[in-house]
Amino acid sequence: MNPFKFGTIVEGDFFTDRVEETAVLLQKLDSENHIVLISPRRFGKSSLVQKVLSQVDRPQIRIDLQYVMSVDDFAAQLLKAIFRIFPMEKVRHAMTHFRIAPTLSMNAVTGAMEVSFQPTANASVLLEDAMAVLEKVTTAENRFIVVLDEFQEVVKIQKGLDRQLRSLMQRQHNLNYILLGSQESMMEAIFEKKTSPFYHFGQMIRMGKIPYDDFHKYITDRIDAEGVADEILQFTACHPYYTQQLASQVWEMTRWKDTRDDIVEKAVVALVEMHDLDYERLWQNMNRTDRYTLKLLALSQMPMQNRSEGGLCGSCTAIRDRRPLLPPMDIEECAVAVSLFDPSSTPRR
Ligand SMILES: Nc1ncnc2c1ncn2[C@@H]1O[C@H](COP(=O)(O)OP(=O)(O)OP(=O)(O)O)[C@@H](O)[C@H]1O
Ligand SMILES: [Mg+2]
Repeated sequence: MNPFKFGTIVEGDFFTDRVEETAVLLQKLDSENHIVLISPRRFGKSSLVQKVLSQVDRPQIRIDLQYVMSVDDFAAQLLKAIFRIFPMEKVRHAMTHFRIAPTLSMNAVTGAMEVSFQPTANASVLLEDAMAVLEKVTTAENRFIVVLDEFQEVVKIQKGLDRQLRSLMQRQHNLNYILLGSQESMMEAIFEKKTSPFYHFGQMIRMGKIPYDDFHKYITDRIDAEGVADEILQFTACHPYYTQQLASQVWEMTRWKDTRDDIVEKAVVALVEMHDLDYERLWQNMNRTDRYTLKLLALSQMPMQNRSEGGLCGSCTAIRDRRPLLPPMDIEECAVAVSLFDPSSTPRR
């Protein structure tokens, strides 16, 4: 079986490193503090949290705010998650204070409890009541952990939700929140801007890539070919997802007899071809400035630094204007992805 995995949460043999991060998270969970975990997309936040949660024997709730459609949907998802942990009777007992009774029904196939509210119900009342249930079921002996993924979406679901949520959360005790986010600039605005309701809400942890040496060992333990691990890592710059994806492709190709030479380069080309249609669609939806920027990044030139060519200044200014949204790391990450996936680029080595 292919020993590399990409795209979904990795566990067990597919998971490497993150020793320090795991220790820090476990330590924080052993306190009354909350955690804010930030990294660019696909660095491994969900996998890390999954690993940490598998090591603590406490009730756990996870809600991905990307899939929360409205405030009442948030309240419903919260209750549904509590129903998954506790028997119906116990939760019903904790719901006697509800001002608007939800409709509960059992999904006959999955056995899961479905929760819905009357469409006309006041959403902030529903949320307040649902959060009060959480407060009632979490205890000093059985402290809940609530993971809210893609937390930056909180400001998009409904105006004022962040303020209401913060005021409800700060009243709760005996539980930890883990708030994850991949849109770094938005997460920073939420947790570091003094006027934001979530200003300094929890301990902020920024996740980096997986260290070179560790990833190198991980690959050489699975692909026995001189120099291949270095080539893969130089190309992906240790990005967790892209490293696993490229290594997976290389591993497949080691099984084909005639592809031993330039195997990493051939694997990159194969991946690019696989995603050909996606790139074309993305390219067609870009404006000229974005196309130009992408082209420069694909050629591994940093547009902000490149002032030598005529006509570049417009793009330079455009990027500089977006500077607050584009910290150097974002550009670097973008460059890695572009050089890996752009069909017209040749592999960097
Ligand atoms: N500790 C790890 N060891 C090896 N590979 C990893 C590790 N963490 C992440 N990866 C790789 O990165 C991929 C993405 O991981 P994961 O979904 O946990 O990231 P994420 O930051 O939650 O992503 P997203 O921003 O899309 O929510 C995994 O499928 C795997 O290929
Ligand atoms: Mg994730």
